[in-house]
Amino acid sequence: MCGIVGYVGTQQAQGVVIEGLRRLEYRGYDSAGVALVADGAIASDKRAGKLANLEKAIIDAPLPASTTGIGHTRWATHGAPNDPNAHPHLGRTGRVALVHNGIIENFASLRAGLEAEGHDLLSETDTEVAAHLLEREVLAGRDLTEAMQAMCRALEGAFTLVAVDAEDPDRVVAARRNSPLVVGIGEGENFLGSDVAAFIEHTREAMELDQDQVVTITRDGVAVSGFDGTPAEGRRYHVDWDLTAAEKDGYDWFMRKEIFEQPRALADSLLGRRTPTGELQLDEMRLSDDELRDIDKMIIIAAGTSFYAGMVAKYAIEHWTRIPVEVELASEFRYRDPILTQSTLVVAISQSGETADTLQAIRHARVQRSKVLAICNTNGSTIPRESDGVIYTHAGPEIGVASTKGYLTQLIACYLLALYLAQVKGTRYGDEISQVIDQLEEMPGHVQTVLDRADQVYALAQEHVGTRSVLFLGRHAGYPVALEGALKLKEIAYLHAEGFAAGELKHGPIALIEDGLPVLCIVPPRGRDQLHDKMISGIQEVRARGARTICLAEEGDDSITPYADAMIRLPNVPVLLQPLVAVVPLQLFACEIATALGHDVDQPRNLAKSVTVE
Ligand code: F6R
Repeated sequence: MCGIVGYVGTQQAQGVVIEGLRRLEYRGYDSAGVALVADGAIASDKRAGKLANLEKAIIDAPLPASTTGIGHTRWATHGAPNDPNAHPHLGRTGRVALVHNGIIENFASLRAGLEAEGHDLLSETDTEVAAHLLEREVLAGRDLTEAMQAMCRALEGAFTLVAVDAEDPDRVVAARRNSPLVVGIGEGENFLGSDVAAFIEHTREAMELDQDQVVTITRDGVAVSGFDGTPAEGRRYHVDWDLTAAEKDGYDWFMRKEIFEQPRALADSLLGRRTPTGELQLDEMRLSDDELRDIDKMIIIAAGTSFYAGMVAKYAIEHWTRIPVEVELASEFRYRDPILTQSTLVVAISQSGETADTLQAIRHARVQRSKVLAICNTNGSTIPRESDGVIYTHAGPEIGVASTKGYLTQLIACYLLALYLAQVKGTRYGDEISQVIDQLEEMPGHVQTVLDRADQVYALAQEHVGTRSVLFLGRHAGYPVALEGALKLKEIAYLHAEGFAAGELKHGPIALIEDGLPVLCIVPPRGRDQLHDKMISGIQEVRARGARTICLAEEGDDSITPYADAMIRLPNVPVLLQPLVAVVPLQLFACEIATALGHDVDQPRNLAKSVTVE
């Protein structure tokens, strides 16, 4: 997830583009850059760090006057957040400049092809590959629009691309596939943006594009086509949001927006994980397959929501790899003198990559010569830098303090790690691994199905606004989901909420049940084992004592109906993957109650997004 701006018109492009980037900085703040077309050449500057670094650089060394430009604010995916990897990227001769949001899945083979032709690539990014390919098409005689269409036909993955050509000064061309792009339509000027916040100060007339389309903007026109050049029409609409709402894409909270971004975040986190021969591949694995084969124990360390992702990971890893897994709170880990050897793989899960407890825990593990693998959403942050390998999640920046899309993409990364270890260790056959990856690839659609029914969850939440306490029950992989559901409610609604393993109720917590107490029950899918039936017994027990049961159960599971005061239906998915769909209604439930109570959902009291003190 990055922010992209394009402009052609009569104003100074630098100001329009930088202002647009400021509005999009919530989409990424690892680095920023701008490219202008001036006097038959590209003038560009780009800097690691926040937009302010770029602004300062431009004050120190001003760019020439220009009325055509593009800009980018980056959330790193391929390559560290440094100056060379910042966008825009130039083609081989510097005639074309390009910015990009997304992941080009086949970039490694495209890069190898360019290198074989003698292209010298200066960055580690997939974007620079696209800049070289695009310029090659332009140098072959195509105009920028035709060149973009031709190049996009060769790209796989999800991308928004925006480019300018030094020799065609009044044209900006963009393309999109499964990645956001909106056109802003002005008078004598036109705009491109990742969302309308990029240009809302200048125009409220916008145009939406379909997938696999190219759009060309000039001062006076907007032309849309398919990747094959067939002319197409965009859909015009009027934006009546104010600027703050525009940044949140019309949602009231970043958190709610991020909940709804989860299908996209999941799909992005799954992109590029299979080799052309169908094998699983991970991001930055500085551990050899031999080292991984030697692993005889794993310890997952994390805090808060990330810890609950780790609890789900234990079920998957042990099931698929037979490697014993411990899951430990990062803040407790090093103080108990844990048993670590060179054959122990420590997995640190951290959305921010900066959590002090988790960082200190991995430092302790490395001193004991254990190997450390990070699962992280923030490229270049400290925890992945200090690890032997990283799996990056591609959730994009998470602004809401309460983690949502960060958590779901952590789960994806955990499943991928489990399957990768199973592949390396040979504990599962390739076919079985492929089948699970296919199931994972269906999950964005399943999560979308849950989101499409958000109104039912909101209605339930509204019924419980006055409640003082809520319990959550789960079993197996549903148990950490219960804990996560309770944490969400504590964090943003400030309600007393507890998650329990359903089988543990009778050992004490059942004493808490009183008349009307809402209990959200995550019912495992019906299967061969007794999990599902045991869960129903637990639900009966609490209901018999007066609890109001709200059951999350799969489609078609009617056995639960007699014991449910309210029902939230989940798509039919395997038990190990159920957390991906089951947690979503719990996020919506918490968000809705907190909103109704008038709390600041994005910045709950006493909490910080990144906890950098122990
Ligand atoms: C809860 C939440 C926190 C974080 C925890 C760890 O919604 O966001 O519990 O999960 O502070 O943060 P990271 O994952 O950045 O290490």
